[in-house]
Amino acid sequence: MLLLVCYQVQHAIAQISKIDQRVDSVLKRMTLEEKIGQMNQYNGDWAATGPITKDGDKQNQIRKGMVGSMLNVTGVNHTRTLQEIAMQSRMKIPLLFGQDVIHGYRTTFPIPLAEAASWDIEAIERSARIAAVEVAAAGIHWTFAPMVDISRDPRWGRVMEGAGEDPYLGSIIAKARVKGFQGKGFGNTDAVMACVKHFVAYGAAVGGRDYNSVDMSLRTLYELYLPPFKAAFDAGAATFMNSFNDLNGIPATGNSFLQRDILKNKWKFTGFIVSDWGSVGEMVNHGYAKDNAHAAMLAANAGSDMDMESRSYIKHLAQQVKEGKVKMSVIDDAVRRILKKKFEMGLFDDPFKFCNEAREKEQWNNAAHLLAARDMAKKSIVLLKNESPLGRGAGVGLLPISKQTKTIAVVGPFAKAVKDHLGFWSYDWADDTARIKTLWGGIQKKLSADSKMIYAKGCGITDTSKAGFSEAVNAAMNADVVVVTVGEERAMSGEAKSRSSIQLPGVQEELIKALVATGKPVVVLISAGRPLIFNWTADHVPAILYTWWLGTEAGDAIADVLFGDYNPSGKLPMSFPRTEGQIPVYYNYYNTGRPAKTENDLNYVSAYIDLPNSPKFPFGYGLSYTRFDYGQLQLNKTTLKGNEQLNVSVTVTNSGQYAGEEVVQLYIRDMVGSVVRPVKELKGFKKIMLQAGESKTISFSITTNDLRFYNDQLKFDWEAGEFEIMVGTDSRDVKTKTISWTK
Ligand code: NOJ
Repeated sequence: MLLLVCYQVQHAIAQISKIDQRVDSVLKRMTLEEKIGQMNQYNGDWAATGPITKDGDKQNQIRKGMVGSMLNVTGVNHTRTLQEIAMQSRMKIPLLFGQDVIHGYRTTFPIPLAEAASWDIEAIERSARIAAVEVAAAGIHWTFAPMVDISRDPRWGRVMEGAGEDPYLGSIIAKARVKGFQGKGFGNTDAVMACVKHFVAYGAAVGGRDYNSVDMSLRTLYELYLPPFKAAFDAGAATFMNSFNDLNGIPATGNSFLQRDILKNKWKFTGFIVSDWGSVGEMVNHGYAKDNAHAAMLAANAGSDMDMESRSYIKHLAQQVKEGKVKMSVIDDAVRRILKKKFEMGLFDDPFKFCNEAREKEQWNNAAHLLAARDMAKKSIVLLKNESPLGRGAGVGLLPISKQTKTIAVVGPFAKAVKDHLGFWSYDWADDTARIKTLWGGIQKKLSADSKMIYAKGCGITDTSKAGFSEAVNAAMNADVVVVTVGEERAMSGEAKSRSSIQLPGVQEELIKALVATGKPVVVLISAGRPLIFNWTADHVPAILYTWWLGTEAGDAIADVLFGDYNPSGKLPMSFPRTEGQIPVYYNYYNTGRPAKTENDLNYVSAYIDLPNSPKFPFGYGLSYTRFDYGQLQLNKTTLKGNEQLNVSVTVTNSGQYAGEEVVQLYIRDMVGSVVRPVKELKGFKKIMLQAGESKTISFSITTNDLRFYNDQLKFDWEAGEFEIMVGTDSRDVKTKTISWTK
């Protein structure tokens, strides 16, 4: 065994140095213009996510070796056509094809924020794996994912693309996604390069307004925003993308502290960094570069290896080199990084290895992928509330709905919606409408032959008209249960989709009020790309499921949960605010010098006079159709020293009537530090399955590694003292014990 491992390691080292030699031999023969060509990426005019400059004939430029990569060119035919042109260039360097494959390609999976709500790391990795298999079969080498930006601001439209507010959960998910995309390694035709983005702190845009500035302390950067990037790097991510924002006054694209000092020098990242769309040229708007030539110089020197769509490199970089403003070694380093990835992907050996029509066809309708998407979708749903409706006994939730129910009214703009389930960053395929599962269809499949369904749209998502209310109310009056499904349109969360109000749009909440007024039991489903605010609904409706944007299988997955074929297990990866005025609201806050003692404490404490401090729904929160009871925490020790290990265990009992999954969460608080520490930090979790009546003892082990933070000297270390150890069902409801740990 050992011999085999040694052989494999030696073989890998030999391969790497062989690639290095091949890279050098190509680099030596390249002109400066050809080198800069490798650092240039164009959009394929197929789908744009930014302004496109139409200046000249791209195919001709590819033929001249002036393009290293294309984005938004997909499908074996398209990629083959352009690759053939690249093969006519003097150096015959293959193109890299990149694409935003954020939550699936042919099969749309739930949006990443929804997947994060599953806390199911294997399922998340599988989702990324399937996306890679499908897109690699369509000729793509590189996905611009995972997006690992932490965000505490649901106004920011791009929260839909990330894993939420927590660096620990975010890091584990980042790693899983990289592993999923990159599969068994490059050279395989189903492994695509991951691109970790947006480096860095993009999620902290002031006011939640996309592309806005970011100003933060180094400690916050290190502790909250960098960890998922580091985790993705550790998992072997091939590339990084920088970001649109400036960080403390320096645009990320021109930021050498971030790209060189941290990523390339400290972490020793050997892949390459691509700019975000046009972000090199945008440094002129930032007021950081005086023109595009200056921007090209700043970005290249700061470590941005490839220019996406701003054309600053292709137009100006050669001149900057000739004038001595950019060293040849900077260019060589960037090109070497890019070529190396092309070699690792096997493209120099076979530039068409991803262009296989049969494979593409085979992946176009893959039933196993749909099954996995349905599995992921049901795991992503979060049960926010399940109370006893009128006429049922106390303690019996309205959900799940019986399949024998006589009449169900299915109301609301999502009842028969199709593409809105896909959410932002998804693809419109011509035959999608037939493939996407509607809620109406999903419910129909569950009900017995004698059951009846009544449909009423009630209103559109953003409507101001209530003209459809009376039909909806009639439908409710004639039904035993009302399922009302509301939310955000597909394009209401995503890039450039920040909202200052994150209430349920239009008159949807008024529709809910009208339905509740009928006295019938009402279940509300909310499909959205971010945490929304729906206080009236939360306070008056007995049962609420947060159904995000769940992708191709949305309708069937929601029906699985509605009728109890799947017991919901999702937990919120972001706090849900009570009002926009509370934002940012997050679980890992500092206590302050004047913490409020209760929700109503207004005695010169840190509080709002018109609102409790707590969110409407806390981080980690999510119910089940069953009930989980937590016993007291058991610790192997309460005083520890140095390298000792703390073992924490808790017995969790399923005391309800359904089998179900629970995410057992471990939080720690460092009571006194050389800098103040959050009131809670997630340090571990386990997703477990318990049959009705079953108990399991769950254990976590903690070492001083888990206690480390950036101290008053910005050194990553732990400090002796007292710690609260908390385990529970969410970030609010925990069992606590205190320990002390000495050096
Ligand atoms: C801009 C987005 O910020 C980035 O995430 C995406 O990968 C590029 N456009 C390419 O579409």
